[in-house]
Amino acid sequence: SVLEMEVEQIKKGDFDHFMKKEIHEQPDSLTTSMRGRLKDGVVGLGGLKDHMRTIRRSRRIIFIGCGTSYHAALAARPIMEELTDIPVTMEIASDMLDRKALIFKEDTAVFVSQSGETADTLLALEYALQHGALCVGVTNTVGSTLARKTHCGVHINAGCEIGVASTKAYTCQIVVMVMMALAIGSDKMSTLAKREAIIAGLTKLPEKVHDVLKLDGEMKALAQSLIDEQSLLMFGRGNNYATALEGALKVKEVALMHSEGMLAGEMKHGPLALVDEYLPIIVIATRDDSFSKQQSVIQQLHARKGRLIVMCSEGDASLVCPDGRSRVIEVPRIVDCLQSIINIIPMQLLAYHLTVLRGYNVDQPRNLAKSVTTQ
Ligand code: G6P
Repeated sequence: SVLEMEVEQIKKGDFDHFMKKEIHEQPDSLTTSMRGRLKDGVVGLGGLKDHMRTIRRSRRIIFIGCGTSYHAALAARPIMEELTDIPVTMEIASDMLDRKALIFKEDTAVFVSQSGETADTLLALEYALQHGALCVGVTNTVGSTLARKTHCGVHINAGCEIGVASTKAYTCQIVVMVMMALAIGSDKMSTLAKREAIIAGLTKLPEKVHDVLKLDGEMKALAQSLIDEQSLLMFGRGNNYATALEGALKVKEVALMHSEGMLAGEMKHGPLALVDEYLPIIVIATRDDSFSKQQSVIQQLHARKGRLIVMCSEGDASLVCPDGRSRVIEVPRIVDCLQSIINIIPMQLLAYHLTVLRGYNVDQPRNLAKSVTTQ
């Protein structure tokens, strides 16, 4: 109705679409997500407090989710392992059920879901409860089934997300899981300096996200150059493997363009055969432990005349692309475990502009639903 349309326009404010509004809200949503949880250099997560001893004693942490929520968990996995010294494994909810994966009462199962109502995730939760694991929820929806049925959990407080493609919930999920890693690992003296550096990074995060959003125009220009492509690859590794998967998911779900995120370490085991001078390939090569490995990936792709778009840290353009042939996206640098939050933002903007330029519905892509409540 006309009234519904007017209400929708009011909710969108100055933005044409919810996806754009939600992308640009991220400095605020991240601030809200951290509010009251970082005090005097200590992370406090009220929802986990009573179960902290059990979590610290668990033999394994299992992250379980679907779609973007699974990717957020993947982004947090390296720091969760590093700070807790507990092995972290990943499960896509449906696959866990298909395999009847082994799960024990010594496990902590962390269920990640924006809506808290995804059928596959809830069925996996039932399964984990039956097997006696401690079940932790990470959700954006207070009172959701996930929030009610888990033993404990953390709300991400990203604010209501309307666009079917998850954006601000993704970055808030990562921030919450990084805070979880800090809280679980807070009893270890050996990682004190590291934890302090991460907390300093968290306080600077909203401002850096604000800065990276200034790439909007640049990403629109990049989208313009890609509108007629059939396919797009994204290579990442380590902390940014998730960025490659999530960036590609954004492009396929809203821009309706084939796109694959790949582990850069697997490039030579198959994907390299696809490389030619036409297929656009985004390589994430921001500074962290795996930077030099990504530099050699770039060299190998160059040697095969690949059409590269390289994402690097500010000031590194000439280092990642000495001959000036590839396109470069420079992003602000932050502590390694938060870099994936910065890096996904240009990809969200790219997917958004690609969709609008291709003339598709960005807030409600064909065939998709915000929350999939059937199996
Ligand atoms: C659907 C949505 C995705 C979302 C996934 C998981 O497929 O279209 O955007 O990532 O469900 O949703 P959840 O609410 O569990 O995070």
